[in-house]
Amino acid sequence: MKRLLDPADLPSTLWDPESGILYISPTLATAYTSLITRHGLENLAQSRSGKSGPTGGQSADKADEHFAQQFDGSSARVQLALLDPKRKMTPLTNGILKMLAGDKLAVMDAPCGAGAATLAVLGAVVELRAKGVLPREPLDVQLIGRELSYQARNYASELLTELQPHFEQQAVFVEADFDSWDATCEVSTAEFVKCINITSQTYTRMLLLVANFSDFLTSTHNWKQAKPQLGQLFLHASGESNFAAWIEPKMNKVTNESGGLFANLRKLITEPWKKFASESSESGLPKPVATSSAKFALPLNPEGTARVHLAVMPINLVRHS
Ligand SMILES: C[S@@+](CC[C@H](N)C(=O)[O-])C[C@H]1O[C@@H](n2cnc3c(N)ncnc32)[C@H](O)[C@@H]1O
Repeated sequence: MKRLLDPADLPSTLWDPESGILYISPTLATAYTSLITRHGLENLAQSRSGKSGPTGGQSADKADEHFAQQFDGSSARVQLALLDPKRKMTPLTNGILKMLAGDKLAVMDAPCGAGAATLAVLGAVVELRAKGVLPREPLDVQLIGRELSYQARNYASELLTELQPHFEQQAVFVEADFDSWDATCEVSTAEFVKCINITSQTYTRMLLLVANFSDFLTSTHNWKQAKPQLGQLFLHASGESNFAAWIEPKMNKVTNESGGLFANLRKLITEPWKKFASESSESGLPKPVATSSAKFALPLNPEGTARVHLAVMPINLVRHS
């Protein structure tokens, strides 16, 4: 499969091949740093502990903790998936980049948290445009971010306000609609679906981003409750040439071939969802889940680095009768 983005073209502001260090796009790193200061979250950000960090949640405290301690890692993970400097996940990087080439695109980010997934993708694309790596075709993005936590949605909205002027300099124009969604609730999902259907009348291309939802979905109870809602979401996000990127930390509960989150997702794609979803792979054959890892520079402590590990599922959301 021919790559749309050659790792040799990555600018040093995003990737240093010598040290193998990934840099969160400068605009996103600056916006994040300024929000941490504005909301007085510096101490919380410096008090990360242990390996398994906070995963967010409905309360303001949980959202603050996740934003202060995990937003940079979440952004780095998604950026690593998109730039893929080690050539581990061509179907995923190509699938996202094709969507972002220009014209009009709706992005559904669910659960969006503080917007790490979409803002990391757009921040990196804007940087690639600024450095002349990608063409500067006008791109109108309707961002539909859905999330349980009000506080996290507010952070997403504030970050976007900081980023919009920089995005617009590179002809990326983003309008956002952040609203509440509970992945276990059919009524809440029906509202989400209604919004997708209205949006699809104007935005024929759609990208569905699901990032970092495994902590919640790998509880058997939550998976059972959320499965039908995810089915609705994937069905209504599908179309003539739509695409979904599911990006998770690489953990056994995600990649395990019997009973891991992605194995469960594969079962849905190959049977009940097969009329509107198919796994995107280079050979067309099922193969082990694509994974990668890299060090990234910490935006709040540019001398320091941390490591992200990720696993991805690229899914074509193309309808077949
Ligand atoms: C680990 S965070 C990931 C957020 C974002 N995608 C990212 O990569 O930073 C998981 C998010 O799921 C949200 N969440 C938890 N339970 C949920 C539910 N039932 N429905 C929707 N969102 C939920 C949490 O509030 C949290 O923001």
